[in-house]
Amino acid sequence: MSDDLDKLFHQAMSSLTSCQTLELCQQIDIKYLGKKGLLTAQLRQLGQMPAEDRPAFGQKVNVHKASLTVALQEKKTALEAEAIKAQIANERIDVTLPGRGQTTGSLHPITIVNNRLVSLLSGFGFKVAVGPEVEDDYHNFEALNFPADHPARDMQDTFFTKTGMLLRTHTSSVQIRSMELQKPPIKIIAPGKAFRADTIDATHTPMFHQIEALAVDKDLHFSDLKSLIYALLSHYFGHEVKIRFRPSYFPFTEPSAEVDLWHNDRWLEVMGCGMVHPNVLAMSDIDPEAYTGYAFGLGIDRLTMLTYGVNDLRDLFSNDIRILSQFPSEHWEGI
Ligand code: PHE
Repeated sequence: MSDDLDKLFHQAMSSLTSCQTLELCQQIDIKYLGKKGLLTAQLRQLGQMPAEDRPAFGQKVNVHKASLTVALQEKKTALEAEAIKAQIANERIDVTLPGRGQTTGSLHPITIVNNRLVSLLSGFGFKVAVGPEVEDDYHNFEALNFPADHPARDMQDTFFTKTGMLLRTHTSSVQIRSMELQKPPIKIIAPGKAFRADTIDATHTPMFHQIEALAVDKDLHFSDLKSLIYALLSHYFGHEVKIRFRPSYFPFTEPSAEVDLWHNDRWLEVMGCGMVHPNVLAMSDIDPEAYTGYAFGLGIDRLTMLTYGVNDLRDLFSNDIRILSQFPSEHWEGI
């Protein structure tokens, strides 16, 4: 009887030794130590035993049960520790893997050129003014001396809303808005978007950028305008530029000129300019006998193209990050 008991105990111990999972431990626990377990059942044999054998046998059953309980607990603890170890190994972050890195954004080349021009012109005493991109006829045309049936309106065909508003064809509309808000001396620049119903090609897009400058004061002359433009472009390029003023026509300036810049062995048109037409001053309640003004409107996109050697304007608007990230803002450092 006692031999059976020992056999049972050793059998339990050996299955515990080879047991690899907590579930199996649990099964061994139930099989031998549970209420109906094999070792527990041994105690029930006490009743059929001679009275003198009972204490020794009972004690032995209890010793075996206690040993198995301790062994089971040790095994469970070891298996749990192993499970945690495995989990840690599995979930470990490999800090030696190369990181994904951060991509650094960069400014759009047009923004870079725009900022540069604004900063240079601020140095010449001009303050930034803004106006709406969706304009009314008065500020875009009428007050700039384009009467309703004026043929010059054809040169600036644009987009109209159902309510008779339009997308401004130039930033010159901000000249009018500035003269409504302040009296001379006026010195403003208006950087912004302009729109024309142009067919898209390498040098035309329906939306483009301009920077407008307007100065109104006593005794302003064409020579002031010329020297400003010369100084601005020379500072911009970091060397003395070669420019020419070609007679032109705008309804809101008289005389008017186009400024051409000598670049890569050819003349390139970079802006329109002129002395503010007396009609424009008068319509904005500024006495043209007492004041004169000059203005220019520079195409930022064109200047961006020749600054960075971009041949197709569309490349600047295709939102291709591979193209756009090639224009570091530090371009101007040291100039
Ligand atoms: N607004 C003109 C254009 O877009 C440029 C210009 C501005 C001309 C100011 C003269 C004076 O073509």
